[in-house]
Amino acid sequence: MSASETASAAKESPKPSSKEDPKLSTKEGTTRRSLLLGIGWATLGLGTLESLWSTIRFARAPVSYGAPLKWTLGTLERFAPGVAVFFEKARVFVTRERRGVRAMSAVCTHLGCTVRREGQGFLCPCHGSRYDEEGHVVSGPAPKSLAYYHLEQDKRGRLVVDLARPVSPEERLKVG
Ligand code: FES
Repeated sequence: MSASETASAAKESPKPSSKEDPKLSTKEGTTRRSLLLGIGWATLGLGTLESLWSTIRFARAPVSYGAPLKWTLGTLERFAPGVAVFFEKARVFVTRERRGVRAMSAVCTHLGCTVRREGQGFLCPCHGSRYDEEGHVVSGPAPKSLAYYHLEQDKRGRLVVDLARPVSPEERLKVG
């Protein structure tokens, strides 16, 4: 092979070098860097949106902090004189008497089970405490009498019991 043929062959064939063309390498590097940067920003953006969405959902969640303390029980016609009417959600017995209306708790004073009517009094099904018709303990383990709660009438004449306001067993809502 002559010297000119050797020079020509060297021009046509790429150099057997381990390094790549610097121009090509920079372009590929830039493209890869841009791609990774784009993925990074997209991930960050999605994370931020997700976090924002979670915060909004948390703030608007229907949160309940326990059972309501005021319950509307109905108009007076619902209460026949001398009959203890049980309201399951409010857990009270409401009795209309000649002297007025009163609401007695159905929550056992031992560990909070709901008592039920038993003969003239009340019985707790959990551990057998018995109360008389006034809510006084007849037999344990209940430590004290059933509570009474404040009753009032709303603008429409419906009875409303307020479980946040315990009252004396002597207190009654006077009704006509
Ligand atoms: S909860 Fe009523 S007797 Fe124990």
